[in-house]
Amino acid sequence: MHSMNDKQSLIDFKKLPNHIAIIMDGNGRWANEKGKERVHGHVEGVVSVKEIVKSAGTLGVKYLTLYAFSTENWNRPKNEVDALMELLVSTLRKEINALKKDNVKLHVIGDLGSLPQKCQNELNEAIEITSACTGLNLVLALSYSSRWEIKEACKAIAQDVMDGEIKIDEIDDCAVQQHLSTKNIPDPELMIRTGGEQRISNFLLYQVAYAELYFTEVHWPDFRENHLLEAIIDYQSRERRFGKTGQQIKGES
Ligand code: FPP
Repeated sequence: MHSMNDKQSLIDFKKLPNHIAIIMDGNGRWANEKGKERVHGHVEGVVSVKEIVKSAGTLGVKYLTLYAFSTENWNRPKNEVDALMELLVSTLRKEINALKKDNVKLHVIGDLGSLPQKCQNELNEAIEITSACTGLNLVLALSYSSRWEIKEACKAIAQDVMDGEIKIDEIDDCAVQQHLSTKNIPDPELMIRTGGEQRISNFLLYQVAYAELYFTEVHWPDFRENHLLEAIIDYQSRERRFGKTGQQIKGES
């Protein structure tokens, strides 16, 4: 077993992923395995959120995007949806000062208008309070799905064409990117999914074009700094080619 410091010493800080995205899965199963309500898994999941935000910030990661609630999650039983919204509000309220002190700037992506008003207010306040922070950018994906985001981008671009602001031939990668909810956020280099499933589940589909994917059996409530370091070490062991040959990449370094 490596200790925490052993793992840290294996990290090449010059090759840190700038942006890590995480699908925080396995909360419900974690709770059920302990004979508890699913909601208990989400409550414990917040402990992991706090540790991973702290750790990513300390390491020097610039962006951390967490999939906290998907468009599809609205189909869950009402008591679970309500509990998640309540948890979001209470966690923001409790943690906002710590986030600011740790220089964490909060961002949100997703269909925010569909969230309860109380949630929207709390989020807007937290975004405002941390707006001058210059450390980790923490991006919460809430009521988010890629297909929703891409559909919205299509509508906005079509409107721009109708308004004569852009010609069809001028729609390039950059124009598409600028209409996504991640418009000022660089693409993730590393996407982590906890909880054992190996799929993307409608998360940042456009943005993960070249991301390294990392899957772990660990359920989100058990995910700790050590696991994050393991994922980063694994990421750093991979050769990222972006469609080029291995030889070309070696020639560039
Ligand atoms: C997936 O596990 C997890 C969620 C749908 C919710 C994640 C939310 C949190 C950890 C709290 C967010 C709070 C803040 C402040 C960001 P699952 O329920 O799908 O687990 P299962 O696959 O075992 O059923």
